Amino acid sequence: MKFFIDTANLDQIREAQELSVLDGVTTNPSLMAKEGITGRNNILKHYVDICNIVDGDVSAEVIATDVEGMIKEGEELADLHDQIVVKVPMIRNGVKALKYFSDNGIRTNCTLVFSVGQALLAAKAGATYVSPFMGRLDDISTDGLNLIAEIRHIYDNYAFDTQILAASVRHTMHIIDCAKIGADVMTGPLSSIEGLLKHPLTDIGLEKFLADYNKGN
Ligand code: E4P
Repeated sequence: MKFFIDTANLDQIREAQELSVLDGVTTNPSLMAKEGITGRNNILKHYVDICNIVDGDVSAEVIATDVEGMIKEGEELADLHDQIVVKVPMIRNGVKALKYFSDNGIRTNCTLVFSVGQALLAAKAGATYVSPFMGRLDDISTDGLNLIAEIRHIYDNYAFDTQILAASVRHTMHIIDCAKIGADVMTGPLSSIEGLLKHPLTDIGLEKFLADYNKGN
């Protein structure tokens, strides 16, 4: 299972990279704005900065919603760095753009996916990753995890290569649940990854081991 961090914050990306289990980064226009990164040139530079921190894939989102605009932007993004994966929204024109990118060797992440039907289309169009937003479904009292399970089932039926990138992960249990289902990737905040580290018995056990060691020294 690949671990991506869902942020545009360079300090958090560095921290996750230093933990040595990071496989990539996802960003979106809202995450960029949260870090105060605005303006096309600054945003493009920020993508390169992120690529220079991590070893893995970095999703960079197109803003255009027409096919030509998406293709132009996507090609510009892909040219920035080998690690860039072009993030394309699940809309009619997005499906066409996904197919173009797939035919032209540009890797993609189909974003804003909320149904199995959308995930099926993304796979048919040759998306590298599909991003079902599980947290946002949970927010509206719909079972986000069930969506991941249904996509897994359908992709396995037809051996689609598209990787399921469980997105909008909000907490540690989301990661565990996605791992049980067999999501290929998860993207979430640093806190959700760090939560995997924690167990009170580990802390108590280590404290006792160190105390006992120190008795004899
Ligand atoms: C995925 O690529 C998105 O950036 C992200 O996971 C959205 O998460 P949110 O619902 O917490 O904004």
